[in-house]
Amino acid sequence: MESMTFVLFGATGDLAKRKIFPALYNLFLDEKIPPSISIIGSGIEEMSDIDFQNGVRQSVETFSRRLINNHSKIEDFISSFCYKALDATNNKDYEDLLDLVQRREEELGIPENRMFYLSVAPDFFDLIALNIKESGLGSTKGWKRLIIEKPFGHDLTSAQDLNEKLSQAFKEDEIYRIDHYLGKSMVQNLEALEFANPILQSLWNNQHIANVQITASETVGVEKRADYYDQAGAIRDMVQNHMLQLVMMTAMHLPKKLSSHEIRDEKRKVMESLRSIKKEDVGLHIIRGQYDAGEIHGQPVVKYTDEPKIDSSSQNDTFVAARLWIDNSFWNGVPFYIRTGKRMKDKSTRIVIEFKNYLKDLYENQDETVEPNLLIIEINPHENVALQLNSKNPLKNGKIEPVRVEFAADQKGAPEAYERLIFDALTGDSTFFAHWKEVELAWEWIQPILEAFEENLLPLYLYSSGSYGPDEANHLLDEDGFKWWLDE
Ligand code: BG6
Repeated sequence: MESMTFVLFGATGDLAKRKIFPALYNLFLDEKIPPSISIIGSGIEEMSDIDFQNGVRQSVETFSRRLINNHSKIEDFISSFCYKALDATNNKDYEDLLDLVQRREEELGIPENRMFYLSVAPDFFDLIALNIKESGLGSTKGWKRLIIEKPFGHDLTSAQDLNEKLSQAFKEDEIYRIDHYLGKSMVQNLEALEFANPILQSLWNNQHIANVQITASETVGVEKRADYYDQAGAIRDMVQNHMLQLVMMTAMHLPKKLSSHEIRDEKRKVMESLRSIKKEDVGLHIIRGQYDAGEIHGQPVVKYTDEPKIDSSSQNDTFVAARLWIDNSFWNGVPFYIRTGKRMKDKSTRIVIEFKNYLKDLYENQDETVEPNLLIIEINPHENVALQLNSKNPLKNGKIEPVRVEFAADQKGAPEAYERLIFDALTGDSTFFAHWKEVELAWEWIQPILEAFEENLLPLYLYSSGSYGPDEANHLLDEDGFKWWLDE
C-alpha cells in the first residue's frame, strides 16, 4: 500500500476514541496500513504531541478488540501520530496544517497522498472541505480522499446543497461516505450469498420470493443524543441510510462484474425503481411510533417524552415501519417491509426472505400445514444464516414441521466495521461506501414522508418499551396476508 498522510479532523472526539484509533491500531497489527504513514490529529483544543499520543494509547487500551500485549508495537504505532490544534473557521490554521503535513511528508519521504477524515459535526463538513481546497492541502501530486459519515444533510435540499459544496473540493470518486451498516461483515456477505450461490441466485426474484422483511430493532432509547435525535427521528437516523442500504444490498441484480462501479450502479438502479409514495398516501404504507414507558429486560424505562431534554409534547418518531415496492421486472409484486425502532424487545438486525409456498395446498389436503421456506440472515448482534425447510418429524408420526439449517460464521478475531471501511478507503475501494446518487435518491424517496410527518398527516402510535412496536406495524403485513417472522 502506498505511503500517505492521514489527517483526522475531530481527533479529540468520541468516535475517534472509540472507533477510529482502535481500528487504525488493529490495521497496524495486521500490517494493513503502510509502514510509512503520518497521522495528524486535529481538534479545537491545544495539546502537545505527547499528550495526544497518550490519549491514542489510552483509547486503544480501552476500546481495541485486541489487547496490547507487545509494548514496543504500541509505541511504534503511536509514534506515527502528531497533533495540530485547528479552529475550523480560521483559514490561517489550515495553512499551518499544510506546513505540518508537508514537513512530515519530507521527513518521512512520503508522497503527497492525503486522506482527510472528517470526524466532526456534519455542520462543518462543507466548511472544512472548502478550506482544504483553499489552503492548498488538497492540491497534491498524489491522490486525495475525503471520508465523512452520515448524516449527509437533513432533507433533500440540504443534502444537495452539501454535496454541491463538497464537490467543489473533491470529485465524487474521492469522497468516501461511511454508512457503518455497509461495514458489517454480514452485510458485505450479502453479495456473496446472492451471487456466489446459484441455488439462491436462481430464486432471487418475484417468481419465488413472496416478501422481504428487514428489521433493525434496538433496546436502547434516545441515550444522551436528545438534541440530535429529537430533530432526526428514526426516519432520518436509520431509514434514510441504513435501512435503505439494506434494501439496496438485498434487491440489487447480479452485476456484470464485481467492481465497485458496477455494484454501486446496481444499487442505484434499485433506488430508481423504488416506487415513490405521495405525501397524501404516506399513512397507507408507513407506520410511525414513539416509545411509551415499559420494561427492557425486566428493568422499567420511561417514555420518550419523559427522557431528559426531550420536550413533553415531542411528536418525534422513534419507530418506523414501511412497505416498499420495487417496480422492476425482478421485484414487481414483492413487498419489502422494513421496520426499525428504539426501546424494542431485543437488539436485532436481520433480513428474512419468505419464499412462495406453492405446495401448501397439496399438503393441506392431507391435513398437514407446511410453513413457507425462509432464508434468515442475522446481521447483528449474531451473524448467522439459516434456511427454514419443511421436514417430517419421525418422533411425531412423520408430521411435517419446519426445521432450520444454520450456518454461523465464526466471528472471533474478525475485523470490525471501521477497520474494514478504513482499510477499503486507504486502498481506494469504494464498494462499501454510499455513492452520492444513492444518497440523493434515498432523500428523494424520504422527502414526502418527512413532510407528511411534519404536517402530522398520519397518526403517531405509542408502543410499550420492550415490545415489537405498535400493532399497526403488524396490520401492514396482515393486509397482504403476511406476518413478521421471528417475533417470538
Ligand atoms: C446509528 C444511529 O447510525 O446506528 C443510532 O445514529 C443507532 O441511533 C445505530 O443506535 C445502530 O447501529 P448498530 O450498528 O448498533 O445497529
